[in-house]
Amino acid sequence: MSSATDAAEAALSIQRQAPGFVPRMALVLGSGLGPLADTVEDATILSYDDLPGFPEAGVEGHAGRLVLGVLAGVPVACLQGRAHAYEAGLAAMRVPVRAMKLLGAELLYLTCAAGSLRREVEPTRLMTITDHINLMGSNPLVGPNDADFGPRFPPLLDAYDPELVRIQRAAALDLGIDLAAGVYCGWLGPSFETPAEIRMIKMIGADAVGMSTVPECILARHCGLKVSATAVITNYAVGISADPVNHAQTLAGAKAAERDFQRFILRFVQRYGQRAAATAAP
Ligand code: HPA
Repeated sequence: MSSATDAAEAALSIQRQAPGFVPRMALVLGSGLGPLADTVEDATILSYDDLPGFPEAGVEGHAGRLVLGVLAGVPVACLQGRAHAYEAGLAAMRVPVRAMKLLGAELLYLTCAAGSLRREVEPTRLMTITDHINLMGSNPLVGPNDADFGPRFPPLLDAYDPELVRIQRAAALDLGIDLAAGVYCGWLGPSFETPAEIRMIKMIGADAVGMSTVPECILARHCGLKVSATAVITNYAVGISADPVNHAQTLAGAKAAERDFQRFILRFVQRYGQRAAATAAP
């Protein structure tokens, strides 16, 4: 079955289980960042297991649930948990991303844990992603193109929507959060990088590194979804500090940043909702 059929089936299945619900924004919640979905009002909770073509979200810290409801007055679909490229290939999130498009979402907001390459951007800081470098060794669009969704050769200029970066900065300012900004490097994993690899990644222009986000961004831009993304810096990348790098540290870093992260995303969603309402006014 093609991914177009899968995505359409998944969207239909979601519509059947949440009749009439149209998300404006879809949010992917990364490692340890899932608790935000618990704050969604009027929630309908669907398990990925019951959605055709949705992946198993296997890693500790990822729930594998789609939470539909209202956040700061905006109808949202929270993808609580993602499958990573190292688990299920780079196209692991193709069906969920395209299903969000079919349901009517305008924007895919990606969140992730990441290691910092800059000493001055410490663990627990939030970083708005302004661009990415794909070091994952492939691309989620490899294979026949689904022209129903987008072009063979989608451009990635301004892939992380500059206006939405501005809204992130405004949301951070409102809350007194010191938001960093930078380039995210997608690393396939599942092994962490070596110190030599981190030196290379820093040299080629990245500010943070992680094992997600890049495939979802490409899939979303291909099908015309806007993208905005925030990394939670959970650790210094290996060799940037003397601390060890491991998954427990990622989860602990995400936990420590949880309060700021939740306040920040809520504020972003609220500002996004207000901006859209203002744009729609006659
Ligand atoms: N490297 C890769 N992925 C990560 C890291 C890291 O240091 N921290 C959180 N995800």
